[in-house]
Amino acid sequence: MTRTVTITDNMTGKQVECPVLEGTCGPPVINTKSLYKELGMFTFDPGFVTTASCRSAVTYLDGEKGVLLHRGYPIEQLAEQSTFLEVVYLLIHGELPTRKQMDEWAHAIKMHMMTHEHISRFYSAYRYDAHPMSIMAGVANAIASYYHDRTDIWDPDNRLITARRIIAKMPNVASKCYRYASGLPFVYPDNARSYVENFMYMTFSWPTEEYTPSAAAVRALDLLFILHADHEQNASTSTVRLAGSSEANPFACIAAGITTLWGKSHGGANEAVVRMLEEIGSTSNIPKYVARAKDRKDPFRLMGFGHRVYKNYDPRAKIIRKACHDLLEEEKLNQPLFEIAMELERIALEDEYFIKRKLYPNVDFYSGLIYQALRIPTSMFTVMFALARSAGWVAQWMELMKDRDFRIGRPRQLYIGRQTRDYVPIEER
Ligand code: SDX
Repeated sequence: MTRTVTITDNMTGKQVECPVLEGTCGPPVINTKSLYKELGMFTFDPGFVTTASCRSAVTYLDGEKGVLLHRGYPIEQLAEQSTFLEVVYLLIHGELPTRKQMDEWAHAIKMHMMTHEHISRFYSAYRYDAHPMSIMAGVANAIASYYHDRTDIWDPDNRLITARRIIAKMPNVASKCYRYASGLPFVYPDNARSYVENFMYMTFSWPTEEYTPSAAAVRALDLLFILHADHEQNASTSTVRLAGSSEANPFACIAAGITTLWGKSHGGANEAVVRMLEEIGSTSNIPKYVARAKDRKDPFRLMGFGHRVYKNYDPRAKIIRKACHDLLEEEKLNQPLFEIAMELERIALEDEYFIKRKLYPNVDFYSGLIYQALRIPTSMFTVMFALARSAGWVAQWMELMKDRDFRIGRPRQLYIGRQTRDYVPIEER
């Protein structure tokens, strides 16, 4: 028997039976496609709090239980046993690679890490103090112009080579954002290095000496990239899907995702957390800031706290907090902000306001402290997030292009403007 939900308009007595669609796990969905035709009504869901925008098999979240699966694999196991480039393969292909597949994948990515030499000219058009996210979004769009007429988005092979190009070029673009802002010469990729170490080499090496990052630092960054790779239909991923639904150039879709991620309610929160912790300055000031976060008249919010989906501890935040502690210990670094962050977490999680609203630390609460320990400047934190999330954006875009329900996304509205009225010539106004 087909499961349905019946919606009745109590004014007219009209009813519509909406089919219920079941997934492999998680809440079923009500297919409301016939609502407008049958009842002449739209659904209304600002912020898409309870709206499923698509079918997807890439990532599953259970916000109540704090569960995050990538193609069925728990994030805790991937964080512990995998590498970022292997997780990228998993997100895009749906299965973990064999050794041979992984070697071919890593080689293919290396072959695309260079960008056209003319791309390097784009950076100098930006002010010396331009925010790196603005540069990253602009250069990603510029790269679209190099492949615009050579990318058939309906050809699977073209989509795969586009995916490889995006994954391969994001570390190159991200590193140049830092080098340009720091007044340092650009560094070409070194194919003898692994993906994450190559990014660190292009970002932090000096032309005057050898560069070899510590294994602990490479592992910490690789772990952060794994934890930021994909996260269901978040704001930036939904932007990439909406842009992709118009058949836009895939690099331009990624640029749209970068732009959305930049906001401090989304990926920009990692930068906002560190600036907040620096403003708090000491554990003695925490009660004052917690009070401000609870005051509805005060726009201040605890950055790195709360989540649309997780009403339990963000599983990524737990892993990052431990990784941050371990890195600080291993590298014998003193990070006073880490003490403030842990005390802020302790106080907030005992406070009724946060308990009642199920506000827990999210992925952005501790990540900036690891970036700081890796000597990544605060303004580059969201660029790190965008580099990693490019994997999820690409995987979700590829899934969209094969979706049997593929059509341009075009939401409707509840109109609250003026009724029809006649134009009045200016002399009569
Ligand atoms: C990311 O979607 C994803 O998956 C995103 C992400 C990913 O991987 O892609 O996980 C990455 O974006 C993580 C979130 C990073 N943003 C922040 O840390 C910014 C601070 N957080 C808030 O702005 C907020 O929690 C959001 C934006 C994350 C979620 O907003 P919602 O779901 O719209 O929740 P809400 O604003 O309706 O808040 C519900 C209540 C409100 O209080 P009341 O009106 O009920 O009295 O909780 C309060 C809010 O005022 N609240 C906070 C708060 N977050 C929510 N109060 C104080 N501090 C906060 N951080």
